[in-house]
Amino acid sequence: MNELIRFGVAMPASLLEEFDSLIERSGFANRSLALRHLVRQHIAEKSWEQDSVGTVCGTITMLYDHHSNEVSSELTSVQHDFGGQITCTTHVHVSHELCLETIIVNGSVEQLKRLEETLTALKGIQSVHIAVFKL
Ligand code: NI
Repeated sequence: MNELIRFGVAMPASLLEEFDSLIERSGFANRSLALRHLVRQHIAEKSWEQDSVGTVCGTITMLYDHHSNEVSSELTSVQHDFGGQITCTTHVHVSHELCLETIIVNGSVEQLKRLEETLTALKGIQSVHIAVFKL
């Protein structure tokens, strides 16, 4: 039986206001449904990090300034090192300085953790977001 349990949540008024606004835009019937959705999504996004074995697939998205250091060539070099785990790469020049690059990945948890760490450590990368699913 999956019993529903009530619990209290405290948060700053301004954050709750933003949350309610998001709920309204997203079409959730109430806060409980929205919160359950967010918790499930967060668990799904983070569960792969708990394991050291298994296979995952998904995306790694990065935002970077291509003028910064040697970031473009280093990024290419890392992607060649992980060629076996990278299915394809999409690069968009979003402004004069900024590049958005998404790589589709498929590989072992261990390899993809290493790839994420390597990308995150690259100088010049402003943001790295990984979204993978366990197979
Ligand atoms: Ni670019």
